Amino acid sequence: MLNYGAQNVCLQSWAQSCLNQNTKLTKKESDINSDRTAEMAVFEIQSAIEATEKNSLLYEEKSFDYRIEIIDFLGFHLIDQIDDLLRKTAESGPLILLKYRVEKVKSELEKIDSNLFQRLQANIRIGGYAAKEFKELINEYVHFNPDNTEHQEEAGYDNLDIFINGLFPLQIMPEPTKDLEPDMVYYQKTPARIVFELVKQAHFRKEDVFFDLGSGLGQVAVLVNLLAGITAKGVEFEPAFCEYASDCAAKLNLSNVTFINADARKTDYSEGTVFFMYTPFRGEILQEVLEVLRKESLRRKIKIITYGPCTAQVALQSWLDFSALKNGSIYKLGVFTSRRLAHIRNDVIKK
Ligand SMILES: C[S@@+](CC[C@H](N)C(=O)[O-])C[C@H]1O[C@@H](n2cnc3c(N)ncnc32)[C@H](O)[C@@H]1O
Repeated sequence: MLNYGAQNVCLQSWAQSCLNQNTKLTKKESDINSDRTAEMAVFEIQSAIEATEKNSLLYEEKSFDYRIEIIDFLGFHLIDQIDDLLRKTAESGPLILLKYRVEKVKSELEKIDSNLFQRLQANIRIGGYAAKEFKELINEYVHFNPDNTEHQEEAGYDNLDIFINGLFPLQIMPEPTKDLEPDMVYYQKTPARIVFELVKQAHFRKEDVFFDLGSGLGQVAVLVNLLAGITAKGVEFEPAFCEYASDCAAKLNLSNVTFINADARKTDYSEGTVFFMYTPFRGEILQEVLEVLRKESLRRKIKIITYGPCTAQVALQSWLDFSALKNGSIYKLGVFTSRRLAHIRNDVIKK
């Protein structure tokens, strides 16, 4: 066990010795300045790590948001700063001890999160969260208000995504095994706040069956199931992604979440009522899939929800009504419903 009091004294004398050496050897002014800068940096790192160690709020399980910021600060700021100092000095011993101390605090904080996620995963497995409780759980840990749409149009991920990632029992993304065809879009996850917005705008009924077309690692289908309590399915072209998603759903004991390894052009959608696309494909493929969905819409009313650039192409479909905001942003969800009656008439006309 390290004695941090002793380490502080050791570091201070290291910094002081830099100063003493300067005086004795009458170093160049630029060298003295750089030693003083190093000395100040060490004192700052020491103060920061001491403040972190003493901050009991950080060690409370609920302080997830705050902990994320500090873990980032320790990893990307303090450790980088120490590495930088290490490159510039021959006297590395005290700095190595300081780095060890920062790493230790960082891993203690990370451990709080990994224990938290193991417990939450175990709760999901036993069906501990109905839709309402799941939303409450998120609110408890992440300062996220699903009713605040202010940041919805921003691209990128946030603390909500970090929290949702933690709920997934498999952390390492599999390598794709197949080449995508032209017009197929590579894997990129829908930001979690957009999935919350999707659930809000979809107005799911309990009998709805949700399909994520191009479901990647399965996060959207899993989240929709947890947030809305409905059956959710994913269709994914890449077998390794599909297997990963199925494993996650199985490990979380979510029997109403399933994944199909198939091309979205050749999938049976006979059960589906709400379809989501985070621009999984473009051009001809998108057109073909929309045609498959149009045929489904002749049997029952369906909803299509889109995110990203595919929204513009879906908006051109005359058999769909655009029911969400029309400001054209690709970072807003497009919500479309089929005009069932209009289509039956078209069919009659065609015959
Ligand atoms: C932009 S990602 C969306 C991932 C997922 N929906 C999400 O939001 O987390 C697009 C996914 O569509 C898959 N994909 C592309 N073309 C496909 C097709 N024809 N059929 C099924 N999946 C396809 C890709 O492999 C990729 O995983």
